[in-house]
Amino acid sequence: MSAEELRKKFLEFFKSKGHAVVPSSSLLPDDPSVLLTTAGMQQFKKYYTGEADAMRDFGSKNTASVQKSFRTSDIDEVGDDSHLTFFEMLGNFSFSGYFKKESIQYADEFITKELGVPISFVTIFGGTAEVPKDEESREIWKSLGISDIREMGMEDNFWGPTGNEGPCGPTTEIYCENKAGGRAEIWNVVFNEYYKKDGRLQKLKNSGVDTGMGLERLAMIVQNKKNIFETDLFSSLMEILPAEMDIKTKRIAADHSRAISFLVSDGVAPSNKEAGYVLRRLMRRLISYGTGKESQLFKEIVANYGGFYPELNLEKILPVFNQENEKFSRTLSSGIKELSKFQSIDAKAAFKLYESYGLPFEVIKEYEDGERAKNLTREAFEDEFRKHQEISRAGQEKKFGGHGLLLDTGELKAKDAEELKKVTRLHTATHLLQAALRKVLGDEVSQKGSDITSERTRFDFSFPRKLTPEEIKKVEELVNSVISEGFNVQVEEMDLEEAKKSGALYFFKEKYPSRVKVYSVGSFSKELCGGPHVPNTSEVGKFAIIKEEGIASGVRRIRAEVMP
Ligand code: SER
Repeated sequence: MSAEELRKKFLEFFKSKGHAVVPSSSLLPDDPSVLLTTAGMQQFKKYYTGEADAMRDFGSKNTASVQKSFRTSDIDEVGDDSHLTFFEMLGNFSFSGYFKKESIQYADEFITKELGVPISFVTIFGGTAEVPKDEESREIWKSLGISDIREMGMEDNFWGPTGNEGPCGPTTEIYCENKAGGRAEIWNVVFNEYYKKDGRLQKLKNSGVDTGMGLERLAMIVQNKKNIFETDLFSSLMEILPAEMDIKTKRIAADHSRAISFLVSDGVAPSNKEAGYVLRRLMRRLISYGTGKESQLFKEIVANYGGFYPELNLEKILPVFNQENEKFSRTLSSGIKELSKFQSIDAKAAFKLYESYGLPFEVIKEYEDGERAKNLTREAFEDEFRKHQEISRAGQEKKFGGHGLLLDTGELKAKDAEELKKVTRLHTATHLLQAALRKVLGDEVSQKGSDITSERTRFDFSFPRKLTPEEIKKVEELVNSVISEGFNVQVEEMDLEEAKKSGALYFFKEKYPSRVKVYSVGSFSKELCGGPHVPNTSEVGKFAIIKEEGIASGVRRIRAEVMP
């Protein structure tokens, strides 16, 4: 059974059991407490807590999905038989619909009847002082004829939460093996009975179910393979890679090119922080292998996965990758030369190599089969990284702190009433600028950052190439025409969810409260924002773009001014 059939079979099975099939959410979550989407339940967090109503949104209390997921925490494990950074997660979810009995029965039926795969053994939660042992699951498994039931502790059989708070609970997990000797934990069934906040568990009012099954591991079992890289999800990628490459490196290259394709297609651009930093590491590690096969890999991935994930876009992936490739290749050989001078590399040296030549941890660690960096650990490297960030943050504070700013929202800064007036005009201009950019360049433009002082606004946004002079002119003209129309700037307060649904633009990195303000200018611009803004666009003044430049692959920066 192909992976494609497995996805389909899974969704159809749960549909037949009354589940609403929900598409995968983006790898970039709108939950700012996590960097990337790590599990299928993430897009459903608010249905467990009762903040949102599944019946109203999906017409059912139960859902199923195939979710694009990414786990940075597994990056050092990639290369073995079963770990990945990017993977697909099959999941069924219930928000006070069903609980232990049905979820275990469904899992058993799907694995043993639909797929005809025997279950080797299962695990249940063994209990702690705070959370009782899961006797109920044991009884259910027994009634289904499973006799090898193993008890596990907090570490293995208690899941969640994602981010710093959220639903979580005890799990029961299913293990299978095949004739080829492939074996894996394939399905994690979580009973969300608790909500964790500030380190404490509170009982959720209504219990829920959250299950996750890695498609790759399932395919390995079903397709009778020894490891996930022999399944049809990877075999064609492995074949593209040079025959002389060692197997572990091949696996990493295959994993990373998949991850890169999906991340870029979801709008991540390489940079030095957050999701962009993760992407850059993957790209640089892949580039350092020097296979020359990257484009071919991306093409194959889009051909293989594009049917199920129409967002995969080769025209987006190639230029973003090529740009990073060009940039990194320039420093790679000098970096390696520098690296070769060290007999042994400690965290300090590694961080220096990262800072001066862009060599990521993984490249340094793997250099010459890892001999020279034997004693280098990721923890020590990350400590160096953090120390450096703290130093630069301290520098920032010195620059802005201490001289009594009248306004400092992080985005807007003003020291007196006069500056406040100016930044307010520039702030409204910034909203108009974003709307105009989207009208001229398309909806792929989204805000990546913004900073407004009394002199200028600085706006960062996603876009793959330099703007032409004509485009810049068009954007300017559009903004100025809206200014001269003299629109009132309207503000409305509403619930965050409602605001997002209204189509208002928002900055995904920001943590918003549950009630938010939405500012709009006619039908031209609509954005979630804390203000302040001018009451009428005519007060903005004449708008001019003074500079347009690239600041990271796929990210552009515009500086603009307003004149009286
Ligand atoms: N949230 C659980 C996991 O990620 C089950 O979906 O394993």
